[in-house]
Amino acid sequence: MLIAGARPNFMKVAPIYAEMKRRPEEFAPMIVHTGQHYDAAMSKAFFDDLGMPHPDIDLGVGSASHATQTAKIMMEFEKVVVAQKPDWSVVVGDVNSTIACALVCSKLGVRVAHVEAGLRSRDRTMPEEINRILTDAISDLLLTPSQDGDENLKQEGIAPDKIKFVGNVMIDSLLGFLKLAERSAVRDDVGVEGIDYAVLTLHRPSNVDERGTLSSILDALIAIAEKLPIVFPVHPRTRAKIDEFGLADRIAASNIRLIEPLGYLDFMRLYSGARLVLTDSGGLQEETTVLGIPCLTLRQNTERPITIELGTNVLVGTDPERIKTAAFEALNSARKDTRIPPLWDGKAAGRICDALLAG
Ligand code: UD1
Repeated sequence: MLIAGARPNFMKVAPIYAEMKRRPEEFAPMIVHTGQHYDAAMSKAFFDDLGMPHPDIDLGVGSASHATQTAKIMMEFEKVVVAQKPDWSVVVGDVNSTIACALVCSKLGVRVAHVEAGLRSRDRTMPEEINRILTDAISDLLLTPSQDGDENLKQEGIAPDKIKFVGNVMIDSLLGFLKLAERSAVRDDVGVEGIDYAVLTLHRPSNVDERGTLSSILDALIAIAEKLPIVFPVHPRTRAKIDEFGLADRIAASNIRLIEPLGYLDFMRLYSGARLVLTDSGGLQEETTVLGIPCLTLRQNTERPITIELGTNVLVGTDPERIKTAAFEALNSARKDTRIPPLWDGKAAGRICDALLAG
């Protein structure tokens, strides 16, 4: 049983599903969608782009507070697990659906494999960090994307025989769909074909939920946008906050181009041509590292340090001066010599399936 809940899960589940379908003697995959994300642009567009079938089961849980959302997923998912009796449940990433489904399975005695195990920001104010620590603590098989993950898990007392370094499955999707994404007309549609532009994503509660923080990040972005247009596909959470704080007019008067959230292929086409990416997303730090695109992460910490050590990522926090200085530096210097981390090779799904069989 493969669990998908929120936007960043779908491109991790897709290659595992495809690999299992290629091995029908060994696997009978079933996709369960919790419904944590439900807008067509946040969910269905990704299933379509990634060539995934409709979920076998959709729990339709939707948005709510952390406790309510997690509890609702657990209540609905428990019924499914009791009825279906899977041999394994595979959870990915660090969203509320991840911990909710892992917890249900661990109590029912169904084995849990966690894909993207071991990542740590060491920032417990981040809901995802709590989800990571707890999911790893109760999973039977911990599939890590990078070797820092193995070290973190061992330090937390997890038995080494449960840990398997398989690489980054999200990169299977990136490499697999890069060519197809060339068909997207998104650069033309937003008016940046053939010119230098930056891409921005911003949705962390710590960045967007308080007026002061969001407004001062915007100050820096508006200044950077004087040098090159910034295309900003807006997450629904952020859109609501921009409206609530009355910031829409300032953005409209700047060279920041606010657009609706994009599907997987359109977004890939957009960021893959960018001169610079500014983000607080986890996945985009990894995708830019693989493509060699300079990335400024608007956070104080990252659970993906390998993207800084080997890749293009620079942590810049939320101080406007620091963001501006880092952006101008990135725009004025030649691209750094960077490396693709080990086992981010497009073949992680095969190793995940092998580990499940061996586990
Ligand atoms: C969730 C994940 C986060 C991930 C992000 C990617 C958790 C704790 N957080 O955050 O790790 O980076 O997804 O997007 O699981 N909304 C819609 N339509 C949707 C989904 C959400 O309008 O399809 C709005 C709702 O107002 C909702 C808000 O976005 O209240 C937040 O959604 P939620 O799933 O709670 O968290 P995200 O911020 O999306």
